[in-house]
Amino acid sequence: MSNLSKKRYTITSALPYANGPLHIGHLAGAYIPGDIFVRFLRLNNKDVVYVCGSDEHGAAITIKAKKEGVTPREIIDKYNKQIKESFEDFGISFDIYHRTSEPIHHELSQEFFLNLYEKGEFIEKFSEQYYDEEFQQFLADRYITGTCPHCQSEGAYGDQCEKCGTSLSPTDLINPKSTLSGKTPILKETKHWYLPLDKYQPWLEEWLIEGKKAELKSNVFGQCQSWLKSGLQPRSMTRDLDWGVDVPLKEAEGKKLYVWLDAPIGYISATKQWALDQGKNWEDYWKKQHNPEDDSSLIHFIGKDNIVFHCIIFPAILHAHGDYILPDNVPANEFLNLEGDKLSTSRNHAVWLHEYLEEFPGKQDELRYVLTSILPETSDSEFTWKDFQARVNNELVAILGNFVNRVMVLSHKYFEGKVLKGSDYNTIDTAVFDELAKYPALIEQSISNYRFREALSHFMNAARLGNKYLADEEPWKVIKTDEERVKTVLNVATQIVANLAILAQPFLPKTAGRLFDMLQVPVQGWEKAGTANLITEGHVLGEAQLLFDKITDEQVEFQLEKLAAAKANNVKAATQVAPAKANISFDDFMKLDIRVGTILEAEKVAKTKKLLKLKIDTGIDQRTVVSGIAEFFAPEDIIGRQVSILVNLEPREIKGIQSQGMILMAEDADGRLDFVNPQTAITNGSVVR
Ligand code: MF3
Ligand code: ZN
Repeated sequence: MSNLSKKRYTITSALPYANGPLHIGHLAGAYIPGDIFVRFLRLNNKDVVYVCGSDEHGAAITIKAKKEGVTPREIIDKYNKQIKESFEDFGISFDIYHRTSEPIHHELSQEFFLNLYEKGEFIEKFSEQYYDEEFQQFLADRYITGTCPHCQSEGAYGDQCEKCGTSLSPTDLINPKSTLSGKTPILKETKHWYLPLDKYQPWLEEWLIEGKKAELKSNVFGQCQSWLKSGLQPRSMTRDLDWGVDVPLKEAEGKKLYVWLDAPIGYISATKQWALDQGKNWEDYWKKQHNPEDDSSLIHFIGKDNIVFHCIIFPAILHAHGDYILPDNVPANEFLNLEGDKLSTSRNHAVWLHEYLEEFPGKQDELRYVLTSILPETSDSEFTWKDFQARVNNELVAILGNFVNRVMVLSHKYFEGKVLKGSDYNTIDTAVFDELAKYPALIEQSISNYRFREALSHFMNAARLGNKYLADEEPWKVIKTDEERVKTVLNVATQIVANLAILAQPFLPKTAGRLFDMLQVPVQGWEKAGTANLITEGHVLGEAQLLFDKITDEQVEFQLEKLAAAKANNVKAATQVAPAKANISFDDFMKLDIRVGTILEAEKVAKTKKLLKLKIDTGIDQRTVVSGIAEFFAPEDIIGRQVSILVNLEPREIKGIQSQGMILMAEDADGRLDFVNPQTAITNGSVVR
């Protein structure tokens, strides 16, 4: 309850990059939870603004444009339109869906930057950064690929290796290559403006760690704690890029704001635009008020990959500015998996929202229901089509739909749709009303603690209560002997339906609308929920309509085949090979000292998924090598195997272990690894060339 004590709320869901369509992972991460929360606030007459929009800057956009051979502008226009339409059709109730390419956003982002700049909040630093001489361009992190220094896999980006998840800076990469020209970039000096996050560390520890320990979800708190524990570093707020918001300084011509500086400001500019359109004051929703009790409550709904930006970097920026409120909470979700595998845009392993909406027209609430039931609130969770079918058929159809339908059909059959009352409510009836009266508070309690799965299960229990009541009272039998009692039973049942209409609103908005419509009563707010006299005697109900129908086996098969086809396509793609590299001299090759060795010991490196610590007899010596093969080989299976090992690679510390060399593995386009080893036993130390 205490969480919902404010009167004004500023609610955001992460701005999706306008570089591809939405899938169910997005919905389960940031949009369904945000939408349930907001609908609940509105039902309780709170003053709320719910903002979102497309994130249209950064390398995510320019790289996609390059891949498709079109301009960034074409990419953002295409995907902004598609995303916006999918959200609308699906029923996410943003007050505004804005775009970070709008002038109002560029201006506000620049204003923010200048505000901090003039306060002297930035550190100006010259550094050497990779530059593509052929394209005459500094290379953003994502424009440089190379070998990951941690797991040795190829194709790691300048900011992160997607194979092992380590965050990197471009100069960490081994053998860096520009993705523009394919050539090795040179290092060139450039100036950037850094936010000294280290300076805000003590403040963050107090505000976030001390101040929000009790409120933050444990997955969010844990991540924040570990970021702070490893010590914050200054972070550059500008980039050498040609797409984004211009840095508003003369000496920074050609430079752009870092996308993670401008994107969260997108929440504010969206609010500004909404306020302009609606004749409201945007500052009510973002600025500190004269009396702190009047401050709006700012809540960010996001996925777990955005936690650091919303809990640390953006708050530090808001704090540095000084005029703005800080987030009250950041209820981030973990990830949703699909049919036993990670959702993946590039592998097309996804349920795309726009396709779902076409293939299951009118079934928005079915998807909302299932995704809400399995939200990855505290740990990763999984969507499968069989489970989707089971939840729709056994829960929505069999419980909620069935109950409502029986009430409607029987009322029409016996009393021409009139809600009557015969004998007085008996003790069974009043017990049902007493039980019903508990649900609004239960649901409120769950929603206000961001436990949407639990909230939904309370709602379904209310529907079960109705179902059980009808099954116990058997009006279809009693009608033969006691019509007065049947009038009362259907009266009670109809009151339950009316309650379900109210309670359904945050979760199943379309269904709630249809219920009110069927009942022929106006839409009601939360304050009416739990009461026993929502429908007066003599009221005439509308037509009975079926709320849900069953998902068929054919529909499930069709979806599974689609996923299988995508997989088959990937196998085809995986047979594609990496492009050839430039020639090297014989002397260059001879610098490599590759030997045959035998794996003597192997064990997993604690707290990593991919790494094995190997002890290898190289013929020269016995040495330790850390290798990123744990996903493909169990330690016990590889002991005794011979391998090829590069023995004169500069030793490197990986996860606190000194790794001396690198074993050679073959890797296909899908990232699958296998050994490159002699076919028959050969003396350790034999030279490979
Ligand atoms: N576009 C980012 C992503 O998809 C999220 C941006 S959230 C915002 O991961 F705060 F920056 F807006
Ligand atoms: Zn790696």
